[in-house]
Amino acid sequence: MKCIQCRGKAVIELRQHNSAFCRDHFFEYFERQVQRTIEKFRMFGPQDRILVAVSGGKDSLVLWDVLLRFGYQADGLYVDLGIGDYSPASGEKARAFAEARQAKLHCVGLGRAYGFTVPEASARLRRVPCSPCGLSKRYVFNRFAREQGYDVVATGHNLDDEAAVLLGNLLHWNEGYLARQYPVLEAHEDGFVRKVKPLVRLTERETAAYAVLRGVDYIVEECPFSRGAQSILYKEALNKLESESPGTKRQLLFGFYERARERFRSAADAALHPCARCGQPTTSEVCAFCRMSERLVPVTQGR
Ligand code: AMP
Ligand code: FES
Ligand code: ZN
Ligand code: ZN
Repeated sequence: MKCIQCRGKAVIELRQHNSAFCRDHFFEYFERQVQRTIEKFRMFGPQDRILVAVSGGKDSLVLWDVLLRFGYQADGLYVDLGIGDYSPASGEKARAFAEARQAKLHCVGLGRAYGFTVPEASARLRRVPCSPCGLSKRYVFNRFAREQGYDVVATGHNLDDEAAVLLGNLLHWNEGYLARQYPVLEAHEDGFVRKVKPLVRLTERETAAYAVLRGVDYIVEECPFSRGAQSILYKEALNKLESESPGTKRQLLFGFYERARERFRSAADAALHPCARCGQPTTSEVCAFCRMSERLVPVTQGR
C-alpha cells in the first residue's frame, strides 16, 4: 500500500476517501481537515481565547495538540468527575500532556467545587451515571469559560460520536436535540459561550492513529459506565454500514448539516434567561444543574 501523495510506504488506508498516506502526509491530511472545519464553520480565529475540554482520552488531547501546533491560544479544562480509578488516571494523562508542552491546564473537581461526584449523583438520583455526568460537564464547561473570559469551548467529539448521536436522535425524533446538533453553537447574550467541535470530519480511527503517530499518550480505557450504553450500539451499527459502504457516516452527518438541520431550528428557540440560583442561562426558572445539585447537596452547605 502506497501513499497517494509521495508513493512512499503508507501507514494508513482511508477507504472512505479512497486514499492511503505515509506518516507525514497523514499528518498533513489530518491537520488540513481540522483547519477546514474551523474555517468552514467559522469556529474561531487567532485572537480568540479557546478553552479545550480535555478528558485525557485521545480525541480531546489530539484536538489540543493540533490547536497548539496551529498556534491558537488554547488552554485546557479537565473536570474530575470522581469516577473510581478512571478519573485520577485520565486526569494524570491530561496533566502530563500539558506539562510536556508547557500548556495551561485548569482542573475542576466536581466533588470539591459542587459537593457531589458522578457515582454519588447517579446512586442518589437513581439515574444512569451518564445523565448527571453529561449535565455536569456541560454546566462546568460553560460556567468556567464564562467566568474566566474564554471566547469559545472546544470539545473532541469526532465523526463517529456525532453520527451515533444523530442516529439516536433520529430514531427517537428528538427534535430539540436535532436542532442543536451542529459543529458550532453560537454564543448567546444570556450567557452561553460558543461551543465548537473541530474534529467532526475525522473518525475515531483517524484520531487514534494521529495520537499514536504523534506520540500523544492518552487513556485507552473507556469510562467504566460506558459499557452497554446505547451510543455504543449505534456506533457498532454505523461501523457495519461503513465497512460495507465506506463514507456512510460522513454522508449521514454532513447530509444532515447541509440539508435537514435547518428544518428543526424553530424547536431550539425557546427563550433563555439567567438561572435564579447561579445565573447561568436556562429556559426554566432554576437551571437543570441547580435543580440536580439541590437534591444532592443540602442548601445550607452552599455551593
Ligand atoms: P464524552 O462525553 O466522553 O463523549 O466526551 C466528549 C468530549 O467532552 C471530549 O472529547 C472532551 O472534549 C469532553 N470531555 C469529556 N469528559 C471530560 C472531562 N472529564 N473533562 C473535560 N472534558 C471532558
Ligand atoms: Fe460520564 Fe462515564 S464519563 S458517565
Ligand atoms: Zn507520503
Ligand atoms: Zn443554575
